[in-house]
Amino acid sequence: MRTQVGIVGAGPAGLLLSHLLALRGIDTVVVEIRSRAYCEARQRAGVLEHGSVRLLREAGLADRLDQQGLEHGGIYLQFAGERRHLDFRDLTGGRTVTVYAQTEVVKDLIATRLAAAGAVHFEVTDTGISGLETDRPLLSFTGSDGRRHEIVCDVIAGCDGFHGICRPAIPAGLLTVWEREYPYAWLGILADVPPSTDELIYAHHPRGFALHSLRSPTVSRLYLQVAPEEPVGNWPDERIWDELSLRFALGGWDLKQGPVLDKGITPMRSFVAAPMRYGRLFLAGDAAHIVPPTGAKGLNLALADVAVLAPAIDRLLRGDSGPADAYSATCLDRVWRATHFSWWMTTMLHRTPGADDMETALQLSQLRYVTTSRAAATSLAENYTGFSVLPRGDGG
Ligand code: FAD
Ligand code: DHB
Repeated sequence: MRTQVGIVGAGPAGLLLSHLLALRGIDTVVVEIRSRAYCEARQRAGVLEHGSVRLLREAGLADRLDQQGLEHGGIYLQFAGERRHLDFRDLTGGRTVTVYAQTEVVKDLIATRLAAAGAVHFEVTDTGISGLETDRPLLSFTGSDGRRHEIVCDVIAGCDGFHGICRPAIPAGLLTVWEREYPYAWLGILADVPPSTDELIYAHHPRGFALHSLRSPTVSRLYLQVAPEEPVGNWPDERIWDELSLRFALGGWDLKQGPVLDKGITPMRSFVAAPMRYGRLFLAGDAAHIVPPTGAKGLNLALADVAVLAPAIDRLLRGDSGPADAYSATCLDRVWRATHFSWWMTTMLHRTPGADDMETALQLSQLRYVTTSRAAATSLAENYTGFSVLPRGDGG
């Protein structure tokens, strides 16, 4: 069998890449170890930068996003018993973010690919890639029917997330890796209750960080900082609501409670691997980099990578390797900006176990600064809504 681009992973990166290549007349095969239902239900990110919304619109993927996405013009930062609003529209000359869940982005992408008769194989096993140093790399897998497939490709895109097989296929010694694990995790819940707030609340609290987000006018998404190896069984619903109520407590304001629809614990890690290319293998999204979720950047970075990769592959297949050669450096500028921002938001808002009073005092000083200095608030706002570093060689 033959395709132009073999894509490993049907997450946001792999599916959007397949669609963007199809718009350019390029044939792809996407392989995914999970079922379609699993991919569509996996609870993850919820905030799209303004550039991600524009990208999805320009790619013809925004019908439901435009109907159901909730445009947000700011966030609240809560600390030391106060809740302060940052107005992104005012600070950034009109930029906003849109709350639209990753589950919905993935549903839209899968429906669009399947409607266009795109090849997406779910529930595959034993994915393998080889011949990456040649111009005919091979993607192999066992389909859900048990048949073994070998597909000759021009290019392979590794969009298979942090635990995938593509990054480890790059010979040891050719990748440089930067990694930091944080001594805490997030417990996330989806709750069948209208949000208690009009904008997201990021709360610093002596008991640990909490975040109030939402999915719709009737469904809330909330997160709590917990210990890294904490079993989810330690957190019955009542304990979660009690803890959330404590961390968001504010005079004259109440947290509405409701049935918990989903519950999960996410470890926190910063990770960057470079270069994001080896021969005819290109890595995109979580396969190449992970940020802690505090800045809401992971999904946006995955989408931004493939927006660069699709035209680069197009040019490569027409004999011009320039954009493909620049792919890694182009993406890494944005990746490092988001890596720094996510680390900064994370360390400003979380309580490090065993930390002394000085850490808290420094955090509170920084929080006061970003909520009272227009220069500091603008820096947070432009990073949160999405900051494009100027391409190298462009004076950036
Ligand atoms: P993924 O979405 O991970 O997709 C990779 C796909 O590859 C998966 O479907 C996987 O099953 C498949 N795959 C893996 N191995 C193979 C193989 N061998 N063969 C075939 N397919 C394979 N970001 C935020 O901004 N905010 C959040 O609140 C947030 N919460 C998160 C919670 C969790 C539990 C996780 C894991 C991530 C979270 N993120 C969050 C990050 C965000 O969801 C990711 O950055 C985003 O999903 C990256 O998209 P991707 O397509 O690169 O990778
Ligand atoms: C959500 C997740 C985040 O990590 C974040 O910073 C904001 C919102 C969410 O899932 O809605």
